[in-house]
Amino acid sequence: MKNMLKERNAVITGASRGIGRAIALKMAEGGANVAIIYAGNDEAACETCELARGFGVKAEAYKCNVADFAESKVVCDKILETFGSVDILVNNAGITKDGLLLRMSEEDFDDVVDVSLKGTFNFTRHLSRYIMKSVAGRIINISSVSGMMGNQGQANYSAAKAGIFGFTKTVAKELAGKKVTCNAVAPGFIDTDMTASLPDSLKESANNTIPLKRMGTSDEVANVALFLASDLSSYITGEVIRVDGGLCM
Ligand code: NAI
Repeated sequence: MKNMLKERNAVITGASRGIGRAIALKMAEGGANVAIIYAGNDEAACETCELARGFGVKAEAYKCNVADFAESKVVCDKILETFGSVDILVNNAGITKDGLLLRMSEEDFDDVVDVSLKGTFNFTRHLSRYIMKSVAGRIINISSVSGMMGNQGQANYSAAKAGIFGFTKTVAKELAGKKVTCNAVAPGFIDTDMTASLPDSLKESANNTIPLKRMGTSDEVANVALFLASDLSSYITGEVIRVDGGLCM
């Protein structure tokens, strides 16, 4: 794994904790410098940076609401100033605001789509012209199996995550001429803060439905992101890789 991403610069959104942090650390371990984008928890973001620096790479944290187009542009410009170039973008930031359709507010629908889907557009839009200059440009979008099969109470989240599939394939086609690959990862149930608040009964029934009979870990998602960021995946683009213990077969 060491040196797999040597001298590459990676931007990871939503990297203060959970899956995003695991991806940032995996990439740092692989030799990439990392720009950590986070929403609000300064302490957690600093901790991710410190852990990344422990691998001997450059790591900087940037507070940014990925849903805001203009704010994202300012932050992307700062990253370019500090890092000089960007090779890898991981659009990982996402939120849930679950509720059944009949009770879902317009605000809860918009918020979830704005962070997950529009945030993915914003960072890709601002950075892709620079990623195109890389010898091995990579864009990795973190979606969800909810976008494939739907999920009760997640009309907003499933719509946003399904939107990421179409976006990924289009970007893959548009940037292929510049040797940039764009792929999506679709995790199933992963043990993070996002799923921590789910009732135990729901977790238990989920575990029974998953063929591998357990939730996944952030590291298991990060391993796939590392593979997609590396030269090992050079002929894969426009693909969706499930990391779900077989849930969505
Ligand atoms: P988490 O809630 O632990 O972490 C989310 C991260 O996103 C945090 O770093 C937070 O600061 C950041 N974030 C949230 N809103 C933001 C905003 N407006 N601007 C910038 N950053 C923002 O979530 P987790 O579980 O690590 O999920 C990461 C990604 O994986 C999300 O896109 C999520 O939808 C997806 N996913 C998670 C699954 C799970 O079971 N945990 C399953 C399938 C997909």
